[in-house]
Amino acid sequence: MRDKVRVPDLLRMKAERRRITMLTAYDYPFARIFDTAGVDALLIGDSVGMAVQGQQSTLPVTVEQIIYHTQMVARARRRALVIADMPFLSYQASQEQALLNAGRLIKEGGAEAVKLEGGAAIAPTVRRLTEIDVPVMGHIGLTPQSVHRMGGFRVQGRGGAPGVRPRELLLKDAIALEEAGVFAIVLEAIPAQLAAEITAQVRVPTIGIGAGLACDGQVLVMHDLLGLGACEPPRFAKRYAALWQDASEAASRYLTDVREGRFPGPEHSYQE
Ligand code: KIV
Repeated sequence: MRDKVRVPDLLRMKAERRRITMLTAYDYPFARIFDTAGVDALLIGDSVGMAVQGQQSTLPVTVEQIIYHTQMVARARRRALVIADMPFLSYQASQEQALLNAGRLIKEGGAEAVKLEGGAAIAPTVRRLTEIDVPVMGHIGLTPQSVHRMGGFRVQGRGGAPGVRPRELLLKDAIALEEAGVFAIVLEAIPAQLAAEITAQVRVPTIGIGAGLACDGQVLVMHDLLGLGACEPPRFAKRYAALWQDASEAASRYLTDVREGRFPGPEHSYQE
């Protein structure tokens, strides 16, 4: 096994221009597969709401659910850094609420860091968390918890339409988060040029998803990576497998075998 990845390693990787790899995971088998493949960080994203629970947005996801999924991922992890998402309304109400919920994700879930959506407005909360040594990953650009403000899942930092956060504010968000002590920032669905500018301006690594190649690392939702999603993946995702199709073909073959008396065979049966 290569060395365990810890929070300072991601900063070192940026300094050494080594690209950081991150994937979402929500359970033991996939976390084990990705960890064994050598991924640097595993994110228990609140995307679990859409990818696993079949919700229309990430908003209904609870702290308890993230703890439950983080426990499975933490059990599977040998090397990767485990980062748990703070779901909607688990950190916005007060700094005390943020501390208690981040603490639960670490203490009960086994996370090594937490991720919060938002820019300058949540910087004071990020500062409070990092002051007590809770490592925080930021997340700006398309922040799915802001789906109603944005009017849908829309590219940010481009044009001046209502619901689109302007590029200047996104730059300020990134700097405010860095000053508040984040160890990395996810940049989601923003123009590649803006992501390059942010990446050059901050010392902490940027992890892109729909933010171009200049970011210090990349993250994908595992269902998009594996072709396991119920819906069409976003334009920025690249599919590396077709597990939905493989699973439906496997299920159909099993149904036919049972209906036609081909399963179980002698090799699957016990004799007296
Ligand atoms: O919830 C999630 O999976 C995320 C990633 C898309 C970065 O926030």
